[in-house]
Amino acid sequence: MKIVWISYPGGAYAKEVPELLGCAENALGLNEFVRAHHHELVTTSETGPKLDPLLADASVVVATPFWPAYITRERLAKMPQVKLLLTAGVGSDHFDLKAAAERGLTVAEVTGSNVVSVAEHVVMQVLALVRNFVPSYLEVVGGGWDIAKVASRSHDLEDKAVGIFGMGRIGQRVAIRLRPFDVRLHYYDNRRLSTAEEEVVGARYLPLEALLGTSDVLSINSPLTPATDRMFDRALIGKMKKGAYLVNTARGRIVDTDALVAALKSGHLAGYAGDVWYPQPAPKDHPWRTMPNHAMTPHVSGTSLEAQRRYADGVRDCLERFFAGRPLDRDFLIVENGKFVSPSYSYAFQ
Ligand code: NAI
Repeated sequence: MKIVWISYPGGAYAKEVPELLGCAENALGLNEFVRAHHHELVTTSETGPKLDPLLADASVVVATPFWPAYITRERLAKMPQVKLLLTAGVGSDHFDLKAAAERGLTVAEVTGSNVVSVAEHVVMQVLALVRNFVPSYLEVVGGGWDIAKVASRSHDLEDKAVGIFGMGRIGQRVAIRLRPFDVRLHYYDNRRLSTAEEEVVGARYLPLEALLGTSDVLSINSPLTPATDRMFDRALIGKMKKGAYLVNTARGRIVDTDALVAALKSGHLAGYAGDVWYPQPAPKDHPWRTMPNHAMTPHVSGTSLEAQRRYADGVRDCLERFFAGRPLDRDFLIVENGKFVSPSYSYAFQ
């Protein structure tokens, strides 16, 4: 059978850094494994119309959120043989999940593979915003020494109210990592943690509006679903505390592009950071590149070299089971033969 692997081009780094398993060329280290099973692995960085002929006779698509090929309903309709859609990483919104379910397909991701990597990135970006790191760094690079300029927007994180929207694997790890900064931690999730779990992560539940109104820093850690698509619009951002910082490592589309720019320009939000954009790759003129007071990176938080090893192993495990006709790891499944089985996604699709 034919497996199509779609990812970012590794260029010279593909050879220089063999640990860069997640680039198109290095194909998650799966080339020999797939060949040994007498299947075909096709590798590409095409995400536009040139991808379509490659997908036409594919049985399995392995895609990455970092360089997403948007597998829409229209595309799926032109893929009669496809059975399995796999995400090398976590977050499978690049697949039209509803259309995939209607077709009876299976969709899975490598749950947990990069949750520590993202949580570390969140902590870094929270500190970058609150401590005013980027302007301070640029002051140094620019040859200046204007302490007043950089100190006038620099704060301690200690004693700030930190809110987490989506208290799953990443959200909980963010909480545990921020706890030693002596912050006041709250969260909102449509599935509330038990009292014992709240004790472990050190965060208390608040209804959404209360979370928005009290958080000095808010971290978005939910999946992108029909329920969260552009959820952080003008009205919702307007309910956030004036001067708050927003960090989004979940998905770019959870935040409305123009509403965010307006909130930063008006000063309603003091800063924004994250690594996720819509669309990706972000075009050169994407307004988030040039909006004030941001500390954005490209979509890289979940693809540290350690994370790449973990999601490569996870994809291999999925393929091994699929080739042998065995069920995939339950934790990895989002849609199983057309049925939503992941609690994080089912809520929004039923
Ligand atoms: P998870 O499934 O463990 O946690 C997600 C949490 O969000 C769950 O507790 C769920 O109940 C909650 N949730 C879902 N819909 C909600 C809603 N409408 N309102 C409130 N809460 C809601 O997933 P995990 O591993 O924590 O990842 C979360 C997301 O982070 C992924 O879906 C993905 O989009 C993103 N991600 C980003 C990465 C990056 O490189 N930037 C890497 C890995 C994940």
